Amino acid sequence: MKSFKSLYSKFLEQNKDKLHFAPHSHHYWPDITREAQLEYWDDSAKYVDDKWEYFFTHKIPQTQKLIADTLNLSYPEQIVFAPNTHEFITRLLSCLPQKKQIKILTTNSEFYSFNRQIDRLNEEELFSIKKIPTNPIKDFQRAFINEINNTQYDFIFFSQVFFNSGFALENFNQIIDSINYNPIIVMDGYHGFMAIPTDLKKIEDRCFYISGSYKYAQGGEGCCFMHIPKNCELRPINTGWFARLDQLGSEEDRVTYSNNGMRFAGSTIDFSPLYRLHASMNLFKEKEITISIIHEHVQRLQNKFLEQLKTIHHTELNLNNLLFNDLKHHGHFLTFQLKNNSITKALHLRLKEAGIITDYRSNKIRFGFSIYQDQSDIKKCIEIIKKKSSS
Ligand SMILES: Cc1ncc(COP(=O)(O)O)c(C=O)c1O
Repeated sequence: MKSFKSLYSKFLEQNKDKLHFAPHSHHYWPDITREAQLEYWDDSAKYVDDKWEYFFTHKIPQTQKLIADTLNLSYPEQIVFAPNTHEFITRLLSCLPQKKQIKILTTNSEFYSFNRQIDRLNEEELFSIKKIPTNPIKDFQRAFINEINNTQYDFIFFSQVFFNSGFALENFNQIIDSINYNPIIVMDGYHGFMAIPTDLKKIEDRCFYISGSYKYAQGGEGCCFMHIPKNCELRPINTGWFARLDQLGSEEDRVTYSNNGMRFAGSTIDFSPLYRLHASMNLFKEKEITISIIHEHVQRLQNKFLEQLKTIHHTELNLNNLLFNDLKHHGHFLTFQLKNNSITKALHLRLKEAGIITDYRSNKIRFGFSIYQDQSDIKKCIEIIKKKSSS
């Protein structure tokens, strides 16, 4: 099995005594991102006031192109950046008509950024929210499509890979194809982008796709992006002045928007995370580390982990408690559902004390895998789990 550890020497060096099984939460950054951070500083010193023009004519188009190539998108200029996905969510929601009851369809497994926001909206009479359960997982896609056809929704939001189970949609094209009216359709791709080979070509004209750099793209926090369908005419009420940079100063009766991804832009933003994202994606391109290579590496580690786990008969971490075990349709983390929250927290803390970093939410503990791990890390991890099998 090929090792990619040398690309991450700085994070690994600083964490020698730890086994990081939480890259699905916050990925280690490749060494090259350190230089990118410094490059941002140097470019700021070099270009001063002109740096924005430099960003918009160099770094941003280059990064848009890297993202578009990864997702097989035709129009890189349809990609816009923001510090977090919540900014896109609020901007998209602000496009909804405010005159009737607004119907939103989603799942009960969306990340907090979206879930909290729509729970709050649900407290207002204007909104009606329907959440389709993702459990049992085998019934989800059919149930979701049925509901799409039951009611005319204004807004449909779902994840490519669900953050609370690791389940990856088998066929998101089918979901989009089943929508025979014209709602705003959004896919949260944070656990798919740069982890699972993803081709958006067939849905690029209909679906908004959101992701970011903090996880598998390995650029750290602060650089999320959204792909906007070409010819989109939506006019977000929540709009920043970057959404029409080319028309500054002109007086119009009505607020106008750029005719590309910038239509959904906010305002002044620190682009140093974009420099890091650019550096990390460029590294993969130059080294020809494709998403398929990354995915296969992680799948091998996941299989090895489960194989070895079987042999130690752990009371909590065993295949019966594995929430979803079809590794063919799976994100890069495994989720174990334990009896209750306190058992889960205690296990997480016991493992942390022994140097294994995982994360947990209520009674679910997640083990993530990445190309900065190899089989020896799996072996060490299982040995520690075995030792820490009882409190
Ligand atoms: C599925 C998903 N979407 C979005 C986010 C991040 O949201 P935000 O950028 O709003 O913090 C996460 C973070 O863990 C996530 O798991």
